[in-house]
Amino acid sequence: SIDISTFMKQTGFTTLDQGFVNTASTKSAITYIDGDAGILRYRGYPIEAVAKNSTYLETAWLLIYGELPSASELSEFDERIRRHTLLHEDLRRFFDALPHNAHPMSVLSSAVSALSTYYEGSLSVKDPEQIEMSIVRLLAKLPVIAAYAHKKSLGQAFLYPDNSLSFVDNFLKLNFGTMAEPYEVNPVLSKALDRLLILHEDHEQNASTSTVRLVGSTEANIFASVSAGINALYGPLHGGANEAVLKMLQEIKDSGDDVTKFVERVKNKEEGVRLMGFGHRVYKNFDPRATLVKESADEVLEALGVQDDLLDIAKELEAVALADDYFVERKLYPNVDFYTGVIYKAMGFPPRMFTPLFAIGRLPGWIAHWREMNLDPATKIGRPQQLYVGEPERSWPER
Ligand code: ACO
Repeated sequence: SIDISTFMKQTGFTTLDQGFVNTASTKSAITYIDGDAGILRYRGYPIEAVAKNSTYLETAWLLIYGELPSASELSEFDERIRRHTLLHEDLRRFFDALPHNAHPMSVLSSAVSALSTYYEGSLSVKDPEQIEMSIVRLLAKLPVIAAYAHKKSLGQAFLYPDNSLSFVDNFLKLNFGTMAEPYEVNPVLSKALDRLLILHEDHEQNASTSTVRLVGSTEANIFASVSAGINALYGPLHGGANEAVLKMLQEIKDSGDDVTKFVERVKNKEEGVRLMGFGHRVYKNFDPRATLVKESADEVLEALGVQDDLLDIAKELEAVALADDYFVERKLYPNVDFYTGVIYKAMGFPPRMFTPLFAIGRLPGWIAHWREMNLDPATKIGRPQQLYVGEPERSWPER
């Protein structure tokens, strides 16, 4: 047997697969998706069961280490993460250098990249203990960084983490608590956010996870790799879609138009007009996460006593699109992002925080993939081929 690169060289055969529509870049044992059947499993467990029975941190452990943690493993993990939530005081001041209206995704990727500068002595990608330490630091500090990006945009003082609180409750307090008054976490909000984060934790080789793996394949440290993943997530065709959905719903509301008018603009392929939160590279039937999120949207808005026209517009849009041949023929269905924005808005997050929430959700998946790649002796530096379509050799012109 010969390896694939030798085969390619010997045969002169190169595949061109723009956007990697049908090219596996790796083997992975973390997440299984059957896009035609609408199936998503984390380490073999159906997403519906994980979302119903687990928590963000337990799911993170499952994704990263492959099995559900024992009770003592989970409490130790939780405890370690609580003990590492503080940012270095200099890093707190890093936020002062950024404009108050900085997009929190830019803040997040820059601060995660900067995190590595504080741990230069423990960034080895070969030392298991240092890797575990970095994993704990990342999980503990990313929510704090995201909350500070939010607070900065409001011009409010940053709170210190309250490590008596659970992961999600601490995050909510850092976002919505103030120096002036005590903050009581609403358990409905906490449970709903935990569930949404679980639904985002992994999705195999999506653009941001592939980015993390590609950067990590150069033996770049985990902070550098995750920072790159955050930047990949920022785009509106990926994680940025949740913010874009809300903008779209708001525009439809403000225009006072019927949703069918907007759908016509989408079908006419007007420049820059897509039905955001619809369509998926892998799901060609339904996105099981979207079904779970839609259930949450109704529950959360009702429990918080919020009535939002945007939820009604979203439901109307979905109904119109699902009955329309354009969407049916192209197998376009709501994806996970279609309803999340409405819930985040009801929780009190501004639209610019929606994609950072996705990043916190996806972090365990990025870590799990980085670690899986790092432990695999077969890993090679990622280095795609290209088909050159430029000029043939030319002579330098007389000038
Ligand atoms: N609205 C309208 N038409 C669409 C949409 C959409 N949301 N998505 C795809 N189409 C159409 C395309 O115009 C194309 O039509 P054509 O065959 O007539 O040219 C056809 O469906 C296939 O679309 P592609 O762009 O080739 O599909 P691809 O798999 O490359 O893209 C993507 C998937 C990027 C998710 C796309 O569906 C999209 O842009 N959706 C909106 C953005 C979004 O919601 N992103 C979040 C994705 S999920 C996530 O990251 C968590």
